Amino acid sequence: MTTAIGTSDLPSPKDYGLPDELDIARLAAVYFTGFPAKQESGAYSPEVISAAETKPSYESAKIPKSNYKLTEPGGYSPILLPALPLVPSYESPKIPGSAAYLSIREIRGDFPILSEKVDGKNLIWFDNAATTQKPKQVIERLKYFYEHENSNVHRGAHTLAARATDAFELAREKTARFLGAKGKENIVFVRGTTEGINLVAQSFVKPLLRPGDEIILTHLEHHANIVPWQIIAEETRAVIRVAPVDDTGQIIVSEYARLFNPRTKFAAATHVSNALGTVAPVRELIGIAHSYRVKILIDGAQSVAHVPLDVTALDADFFVFSGHKIFAPTGIGALYGKEDLLGAARPYQGGGNMIADVTFERTIYQKAPEKFEAGTGNIADAVGLGAALDYVSWVGIERIAAYEHELLQYGTEALRSVNGLTLIGTAADKASILSFVLKGHDNAEVGKYLSRAGIAVRAGHHCAQPILRRFGLEGTVRPSIAFYNTFDELARLKEVLLELTR
Ligand code: ALA
Repeated sequence: MTTAIGTSDLPSPKDYGLPDELDIARLAAVYFTGFPAKQESGAYSPEVISAAETKPSYESAKIPKSNYKLTEPGGYSPILLPALPLVPSYESPKIPGSAAYLSIREIRGDFPILSEKVDGKNLIWFDNAATTQKPKQVIERLKYFYEHENSNVHRGAHTLAARATDAFELAREKTARFLGAKGKENIVFVRGTTEGINLVAQSFVKPLLRPGDEIILTHLEHHANIVPWQIIAEETRAVIRVAPVDDTGQIIVSEYARLFNPRTKFAAATHVSNALGTVAPVRELIGIAHSYRVKILIDGAQSVAHVPLDVTALDADFFVFSGHKIFAPTGIGALYGKEDLLGAARPYQGGGNMIADVTFERTIYQKAPEKFEAGTGNIADAVGLGAALDYVSWVGIERIAAYEHELLQYGTEALRSVNGLTLIGTAADKASILSFVLKGHDNAEVGKYLSRAGIAVRAGHHCAQPILRRFGLEGTVRPSIAFYNTFDELARLKEVLLELTR
């Protein structure tokens, strides 16, 4: 089902930096994927609407305001695959359950760095779990911001301030929509996953803790979802408890459930493991935590670019991600929090922007999300994040998940055929990651050998030492894929590994 909208008032594809020949109906259908079918009901953001009417900025001028709205609670279906025209290309797999094709060739053309040569070789970017590359739509959006909108965000002051504020708040709204949040009030801009988790630890969880209280984590966590909890546990004499994984690298849910008890005050779990690729059963983990009246944070650093999600349907209390792992700039990310939880939490940092009134005797804070955004934020990169989320929505996260699933299966088989190679992380449900070790070769040596062939992978502990040690390892070689990767690139990876082991 796609939302029926008129096309007469729509922008041209070129306005979005998309190819001219693109069918405008397709653009409209894709762009508005996930919007409620009934355009005339639901809550507008008054700020955005009036901005679009009176003070057009780069984006607000181009998006018809009748479509410019957040989802209504319960009225959101994230699984809408608009009917795309067939764009077959040599590498395009058929998307299961649909007659449409994803043109990887067309998509790759949007990412300038993918044409880069390294040491005279074509770059093959398999380090997507560390950071993703940026489409020209994001790069151009940043350029546009600095050329036409740059200002601090204090709406009333002058024209550029209004433009920058519009662009910044629109990015917040796009982030809310992308995650399936009820509104932009649920979205706090942060530097990334790490800052988001530290914010929740300090603002929300630490005040709850008394000596002997417990925080539940899983063995899959990366350091960003371990160390912030250790810091507050040390300060309050609370205890961290860790749910084990099985030999495939999947969380043992029954063991997870057994950890909960009356001393449990909070839980945090990764959605996708950055070291193994395991997709954790977060719906179950959330359900278990809630059955004990415990709030839970889901770390989406490694899932946000690969797995369709809807934080409202999932009933996550908090969700964090980093923009740079979803084709946006570094230094920007978002924390989603339920309204009552953000409302109840104390500020994380103090300063300008987060206040309503200050005297030397006391300060009255703004409401969330501003309450958590002290000082001048990363305005331009937040706008870039909005552009990146538009791009991903344009491709369709369900399509991305389906295509990457095919890539991962192909890559798994390809690597299995290399003598002496052991895949680390073999859970039935995996996303994006192909961690391995190669007998007789240390990880750094394999990484360097691949690099000389133009193939970028991470070799090391991936900021997730506990889970690697669970498998008796200090590190792995970790190719990690994104939707601009191809079967040919995976075949090349295998070929180079065969050369190395020959
Ligand atoms: N967490 C990032 C990684 O997995 C840095 O490489």
